[in-house]
Amino acid sequence: MEKKLSFLGIETSCDETAASIVQENKDGTAKILSSVVSSQIKEHEKFGGVVPELAARSHIENIEFIVSKALKEADVKIDEISGVAATAGPGLIVCLTVGLNFGKAIAGFADKPFVAVNHLEGHALSPGLSGNIKFPYLLLLVSGGHSQFLIVENINQYKQLGTTIDDALGEAFDKTAKMLDLGYPGGPAVEKFAQKGDKNYFKLPQPIINKAGCNLSFAGLKTAVLRESKKIKNNNQLKYNLAASFQETIINILRKKTEIAFNEFIKFNGSKNKTFVVAGGVAANESIRISLKEIAKKNNFKPVFADIKYCGDNAAMIAWAGIQRYKKKLTNNLDVEPKSRWPLDSKAKFMKGPGLKL
Ligand code: KG4
Ligand code: ZN
Repeated sequence: MEKKLSFLGIETSCDETAASIVQENKDGTAKILSSVVSSQIKEHEKFGGVVPELAARSHIENIEFIVSKALKEADVKIDEISGVAATAGPGLIVCLTVGLNFGKAIAGFADKPFVAVNHLEGHALSPGLSGNIKFPYLLLLVSGGHSQFLIVENINQYKQLGTTIDDALGEAFDKTAKMLDLGYPGGPAVEKFAQKGDKNYFKLPQPIINKAGCNLSFAGLKTAVLRESKKIKNNNQLKYNLAASFQETIINILRKKTEIAFNEFIKFNGSKNKTFVVAGGVAANESIRISLKEIAKKNNFKPVFADIKYCGDNAAMIAWAGIQRYKKKLTNNLDVEPKSRWPLDSKAKFMKGPGLKL
């Protein structure tokens, strides 16, 4: 009987130490045997953001325990798995190094194939953990470090349609939460407080809404939130109104830009297989999910969201990307190095910095 593929995945690119065992079923779907995520929220919340050295130290302290726990929960021994995958970028080098080196050591000692995974490819393929999706598909990837529209043509084959020219969407949520003193991590806090607010109370700017295709910009919105937040001080209702208005503005921007991306996708692939996938930490936001589902249906796109459990950083998506790359013979040698910057589409124009023309 042919053995099923299974991978150990390791993720340490930012403030989550995570390990997971994922198996591929015969029909190409995923079976998650374990997914252990240890978040460092408590350690970073007093600073209102991730402190790289603290994060790296915490990964070093936790990694062995987390990997052992993932193996134990899956009831699998190292020699029974098909290979090891670890995130190699993009992210904080001091953090990436911990998981990458741990993964390489296991692969080396156990004599298993090794796959260095792009964290963004992990997010891009994460909806595959819940069911088969056909290539190509349109992807909106919204996380703490990235906000991009991409055509996922295949494993390792991406075409960037648009990206943020300044802040990432998750970063805008985190900064808004900080300005309003709502707590850390910001995304879930803003979402929670927005439910108590009037989304039409503040009129906030929608940067580059009518230009630059499906590129995105959130810096001007953040500055407007800062300006308003200074005026409202300790009035809780106004804080909630500002959180709600911020989230509503984001939703309006995403709806408009998503429709532009739909047209780009149709230009690329015609009108067949119109699938719209949303992944990354911000994809956990219920109001964003509802709104993007609606806009997809209106445009005859099939909306597919990463399971809420696998929107934020986790290692199941890394193990899964590892399996998919391994099947395409995209394995790595053990001298592979971490990368802080690693775009999925290497031909895409770098969209930040002075002199940018839109
Ligand atoms: O994908 P992720 O876990 O890490 C990165 O790769 O960056 O994304 C984290 C980001 C954070 O900025 C967090 O505030 C945001 O996702 N986030 C949310 C929600 N949950 C997490 N943003 C909005 N609404 C949420 N419910
Ligand atoms: Zn991520």
